[in-house]
Amino acid sequence: MLTLHLQMRMMDSQNMLTGKVAAAVIGLAVCGMFVIQGGETLGSTSIGFPTWRETGLLGAPARVMICITAGLFLLAGVWLYRLLYSPLVLLRAPDDVGYIAEDGRSKARAANEVRRRRKIGDLPPVYPNGWYRVLDSHMLERGEVKNVSVLGEQLAVFRGEDGKAHVMDAYCPHLGANLAVGGRVVGNCLECPFHGWQFRGDDGKCVKIPYAEKVPEFAKVSSWYSREVNSQILVWFHCDGEDPHWTIPEQPEITNGEWVYRGRTEHFINAHIEIPENAADVAHLGHLHTPGIVSGVDLRYTNSKTWEFVRHDWKAQWEPESEPNKHCSQMLVKHSLTVFGCHWSLLDVNVVARQAGPGVVFLQFDHSFLGRGVIMHCVTPVEPLLQCVSHTIFYQSSIPPLVPKFILKAESIQFERDVMIWNNKKYISKPLLVKEDSAIQKHRRWYSQFYSENSPRLQYQHDTLNF
Ligand code: FES
Ligand SMILES: [Fe+2]
Repeated sequence: MLTLHLQMRMMDSQNMLTGKVAAAVIGLAVCGMFVIQGGETLGSTSIGFPTWRETGLLGAPARVMICITAGLFLLAGVWLYRLLYSPLVLLRAPDDVGYIAEDGRSKARAANEVRRRRKIGDLPPVYPNGWYRVLDSHMLERGEVKNVSVLGEQLAVFRGEDGKAHVMDAYCPHLGANLAVGGRVVGNCLECPFHGWQFRGDDGKCVKIPYAEKVPEFAKVSSWYSREVNSQILVWFHCDGEDPHWTIPEQPEITNGEWVYRGRTEHFINAHIEIPENAADVAHLGHLHTPGIVSGVDLRYTNSKTWEFVRHDWKAQWEPESEPNKHCSQMLVKHSLTVFGCHWSLLDVNVVARQAGPGVVFLQFDHSFLGRGVIMHCVTPVEPLLQCVSHTIFYQSSIPPLVPKFILKAESIQFERDVMIWNNKKYISKPLLVKEDSAIQKHRRWYSQFYSENSPRLQYQHDTLNF
């Protein structure tokens, strides 16, 4: 598992490395030029080495051209390598996608205006009970601690020296320092940066106060149920503090290394956690997701005539599962691609989208030509109207990485179309549905199992002008 984390971390950092490599390449090219110049100077002495001038090899401008060409070739090589082998990493800031910035406004300003003016609607509780992803495993090294905002809380997520990941409240019960900001991992404990109290990862108990004779029995920080599976760290949330009564299924091909990491995307969406309801909203597939991915993500232009020769066709069906998996549901999707009216059967893909609880969906691909793999689609509430949505892809190691990278990119384009809807919509508690929309109501009934009486609700709403 640790090797896998390291590989994934290295692959993610390759993207950052590419910039450095590019700089190094240019630097080398320039140095090469000076070295050549040096050779020329040497050659003009009596040492007897052939020189540029002596070999008739051109003057300074030509040497510059040779160096630049060599540098460009190297850069092209690095780019090609990255395209073919590095994982796809696409991280979107909260204002990047799904807002219309007109009249010279910045995206950030457009996003702020939408957030301020928009009607929220009659929301269900904001944090359903269930498992939520907090980090992918490779984002947390042994001995590392990270501050994560989840479910309106600040959490400290750290990996002990034994490799086990722990999640606890970030604020120290002593005087409130944030354990994840400047704190350090000592063995399997987390040490507060303020006065050095140490808290045990397993149960949050304080085990050391460096200047006190005795550690009080009640000195502890709340620790959260967490689990590391499918190369992800997840936490359990229940509004009444109940223990988990179901779990996230393991994808054995990830654990045994048959499927390998090929990339991830991350989006922040201003919406209630209604995003997985999309699975039961079969009708939106035939409208929002029909234009070819070449027509992009801005819904003002996706139906433009230029690209109407490419279209995706979808057939889908959503069903809840029965006991003992009533916390799961399945959407079966059949995708086909048409270009100039001609059906490309090679790209017919069947996907099973299996949802486990309120915030994790496994999109499983099984294709005779394109191979097998999974995209894990995770929705984690950061705040009541802010969701962090990640897509992480694992794919058969024998399939060229370009295939899963293309699948992830295509999924991301289709997903960003939904983001524009979610960022601007109102939650309709009693939607006006037709018979063909019946799965949406079924999904809401199924999803309500994740709410209980004390599930937290949004405290205030600006839905009315009545003061
Ligand atoms: S605030 Fe954490 S040890 Fe004092
Ligand atoms: Fe969608």
